[in-house]
Amino acid sequence: MTTAAALTAELETVLAEATTRLAAADDLATVAAIDSEFLGKKSTVSAAKQQLGALDADQRKAAGQAINAIREALTGQVEAARIRVADQARAEQVAAERLDLTERLSSIRRGSLHLNTQARDRLEDVFVGMGFTIAEGPEVETAWYNFEALNIPEWHPARGSFDTIFVNLGEPEEVMLRSHTSPVQIRTMEVQEPPIYIVAPGRTFRTDTADATHLPAFNQIEGLVVDRGITLGDLAGTMQEFVHAFFGREVKTRLRPSYFPFTEPSAEFDISRPDGSWLELGGCGMVHPNVLRNCGIDPEIWQGFAFGFGIDRLAVMRYELDDIRELVNNDVRFLHQF
Ligand code: DAH
Repeated sequence: MTTAAALTAELETVLAEATTRLAAADDLATVAAIDSEFLGKKSTVSAAKQQLGALDADQRKAAGQAINAIREALTGQVEAARIRVADQARAEQVAAERLDLTERLSSIRRGSLHLNTQARDRLEDVFVGMGFTIAEGPEVETAWYNFEALNIPEWHPARGSFDTIFVNLGEPEEVMLRSHTSPVQIRTMEVQEPPIYIVAPGRTFRTDTADATHLPAFNQIEGLVVDRGITLGDLAGTMQEFVHAFFGREVKTRLRPSYFPFTEPSAEFDISRPDGSWLELGGCGMVHPNVLRNCGIDPEIWQGFAFGFGIDRLAVMRYELDDIRELVNNDVRFLHQF
């Protein structure tokens, strides 16, 4: 005669076996097979139910409770095994499909903007902050824009001082690579009514041989203001404001009398170096009345100032380079430092 105790003992053996088998299962099919073996119609648990009728009434209740407890425990274990196996399968799939992007990133060095571009962007920011807009002009110019309209007629000795690179096109010495950004002054005044507040950064060219302080292809930034009642004080104040914004408050500026055909009076523009010496940045002055007239602007009504300086030199100064040629050598060991 079966007793509740015997039945319970048997079921516990079954449960222990199921527990061991589930722990070893590592795919869903195995778990499903164990599920039907231990909980299905032909399982020991189901068979135990059939035996309940053969028990005494007082044994039946205890045996019934034991069967239910075992069935619940088994169901819980099967469910837990299903979740574990499914999680494991997903983790394996993720691992198999994984792309290690960190490995890729660490092998690639990030690039950076060229020093000239950085200096130019910063210059534009400073001047735009002061109310200027950005103007542009072509790199290949005619004698009218590069010289004539800037009050440098053909006979003028200043033409020679520009060491111009001419292009073999049209009349001799008629077409050239622009030797400064000043022609953008003319192009702007031709199409724009005053008031004018522009800066024009761009590439410029001369027959210079490259050395520590010269490049045959270099960069300038031109400035032009045309408005009513503009004085040399406006020029000096603008230059000082620009230098403070670009280099810092500790840098001093000075204007030294000079000569340019397109400005009157003209000046060289210097900034102070930490060691107390002065560095020449470029030229500036009050726009010559002839230049205004050449662009159809009445110098009795409008006055202006202009300036032009080398961006490469600014970069050399700002980043404390020993040799301007570093800017064009494209040595990555140099470029990576900025
Ligand atoms: N264009 C001159 C040069 O390249 C620099 C310059 C001087 C520009 C005076 C100006 C200026 O606008 O007013 O040497």
